[in-house]
Amino acid sequence: MQCFSCGTQIISGSGAVSSLKSMAVGRLLVVTDPFFYQNGTARRIAEGAAPAAAEYFHKVAPDPSVTLAAEGTAAVQAFQPDTVLALGGGSAMDCAKAMVYFSGTKAKLIAIPTTSGSGSEVTDFAILTYNGVKHPLVDARLRPDVAILDSDLLAELPPPLIADGGFDVLTHALEAYVARNAGAITDALALDAFATAFRLLPQSYAGKRSARPGVHLAATMAGMAFTQAGLGLCHAIAHSLGGEFHIPHGRLNAILLPAVISRNAVTAADRYAAAARAAGLEGRADSVGVRNLRSTLIRLRRELNLPATLVQAGISPAQVRQKADSITKAALADPCCATNPVPVTEGMIREVLAEVTGHG
Ligand SMILES: NC(=O)c1ccc[n+]([C@@H]2O[C@H](COP(=O)([O-])OP(=O)(O)OC[C@H]3O[C@@H](n4cnc5c(N)ncnc54)[C@H](O)[C@@H]3O)[C@@H](O)[C@H]2O)c1
Ligand SMILES: [Fe+2]
Repeated sequence: MQCFSCGTQIISGSGAVSSLKSMAVGRLLVVTDPFFYQNGTARRIAEGAAPAAAEYFHKVAPDPSVTLAAEGTAAVQAFQPDTVLALGGGSAMDCAKAMVYFSGTKAKLIAIPTTSGSGSEVTDFAILTYNGVKHPLVDARLRPDVAILDSDLLAELPPPLIADGGFDVLTHALEAYVARNAGAITDALALDAFATAFRLLPQSYAGKRSARPGVHLAATMAGMAFTQAGLGLCHAIAHSLGGEFHIPHGRLNAILLPAVISRNAVTAADRYAAAARAAGLEGRADSVGVRNLRSTLIRLRRELNLPATLVQAGISPAQVRQKADSITKAALADPCCATNPVPVTEGMIREVLAEVTGHG
């Protein structure tokens, strides 16, 4: 039996934030990070909704902590909004989702992503950090009511954010496609998202703004796929490394993905080969498809100036060795392991860690 639900209304296109004015917003709480508060974008968008009253929770930092979400939850309870608007990347959206969830408010949650990456605007996930470990909360009540994909917000997206977010999209799509809970609907979303992001990312990174709406929609489609199909080993290790070392999430996926594909190809070679063909890569035999997929992702990683190892991302082999036990333990406990196509073992996580550490 399979179940697919898509409770989020998705409004997309240039100028899509103007749809807020028809949403009858009364008391509006905007959750954002300092960047969008200080540059006036949060205020401009909020004023477009013509609320009766507006308040701003604007301290969201990358990889939001449980403490920050608790502070935000208190802000929801004090202000009693009827609408919570999350503006920013995965961090602002996850923080807002957790605030709505823990406060128990019935407020409508509107998510406006400003990166093309996390897919958080349509997922049942919110990732919070506690004691150096990233904990994915997973619950259908975390899913936003509305997602507004406004490509105008991407005009000034810095290239490193395009690269980091882009590899998050590719990883969501691939992990969802090979995941244990994948089905026909998530397959269609995952394959299209993978092929689109793969084709458009180099152009978007090189500054072609017309490529960005396509990558933005691919990020949302990959989110719709993985929230139903699940993720896998790459995300489990990325969460544990991210909690420990605070390297951007998509960058960690870029480092880990080729090594994870090698481990999972034992049972998922046909699926990886199909994804490679969907992206236009050659290779009729599954083994050739997997090889081409890995090598092409490694080439794309280089083209987007992303690191290939943890050393290149600024983490020394000694730091990895020192934390290897806690990183392995956290990755093994991560819910993303449950849907990996190959049962995840401690040995497998240690092997991947050794492969991506690099030489200092
Ligand atoms: N909930 C989910 O389903 C899900 C899925 C994947 C990742 N995540 C989480 O999302 C977080 C990563 O999110 P992210 O990659 O979107 O980055 P982010 O939200 O952490 O933002 C990173 C930085 O980019 C800046 N930024 C964002 N948009 C910008 C823009 N348009 N122009 C200039 N600067 C901008 C922010 O101010 C911030 O400093 C991680 O914590 C990750 O674990 C959540
Ligand atoms: Fe991710």
